[in-house]
Amino acid sequence: MTTTGDRVRIAAVSDLHCTRTSRGAFQPMFQQIVGEADVLLLCGDLTDHGLPEEAQVLAHELAGVKIPMLGVFGNHDYHSGHVAEVEHILEATGLKILDGDDCEVHGVGFAGVKGFGGGFGRHTLEAWGEDAIKKFVYEAVEEALKLEKALARLHSSRRVAVLHYAPVQATVEGEPPAIFPFLGSSRLEEPINRYGVSAVFHGHAHHGSPEGKTMAGIPVYNVALSLMRQEMGDRPPFRILELPAEPSGNGAAHTACSTAAGIHSGETVTAG
Ligand SMILES: [Fe+2]
Ligand SMILES: [Fe+2]
Repeated sequence: MTTTGDRVRIAAVSDLHCTRTSRGAFQPMFQQIVGEADVLLLCGDLTDHGLPEEAQVLAHELAGVKIPMLGVFGNHDYHSGHVAEVEHILEATGLKILDGDDCEVHGVGFAGVKGFGGGFGRHTLEAWGEDAIKKFVYEAVEEALKLEKALARLHSSRRVAVLHYAPVQATVEGEPPAIFPFLGSSRLEEPINRYGVSAVFHGHAHHGSPEGKTMAGIPVYNVALSLMRQEMGDRPPFRILELPAEPSGNGAAHTACSTAAGIHSGETVTAG
């Protein structure tokens, strides 16, 4: 079996910021994850500068991970303008990058977007004034719409949102308040509440807080690696969440993904 019977174990970590010199740095953690989880989520800033050479190093680190892997990109992954090449290198390892896409694994639905900034609650930036401000706000609005569409396509009763930016202020608390508007946006929270997701994972706020809730009480987990190292103490620096599994006939991890453009892939992944 790939799951522990009636549970799916979801491991999540973010902000690896893999560099050219990171070879060997993440393999021990990934080996532990393979032993303890059925699905791995990587919540952005996978590379430090979005360089193909960094992606090659991370691909080497991920080579032994034979459980389904889903991820989103973070702002760092876009920095050098090679995001398509970085995605190509990482997807060759089996990691599926979600950008408004959705996947079902063991009957649990995952919807992923990078997200964007803009601030929280009544301090949310509005699309008013200069075009530059409007463009900034529209990026957040579009990311929230992509998340909504991906959630709408999921048929599973158990849904998980995978983000890089935070959808609530609670999990960026700990960072300087002056940078909260650059760490996430409440615009991401609305579809999460409306579709009643089971949990949200994000990163980006390296010095934020590990747990929060949306206005509807949905748990939100900040899984930035540096924060996990600080919070987990002697335990390995990733979070594991268990959700009820859909009964599976043969024990294999059926992964079915789709995009706004239609069915992307449906494959059976043999867990290792
Ligand atoms: Fe980061
Ligand atoms: Fe980031």
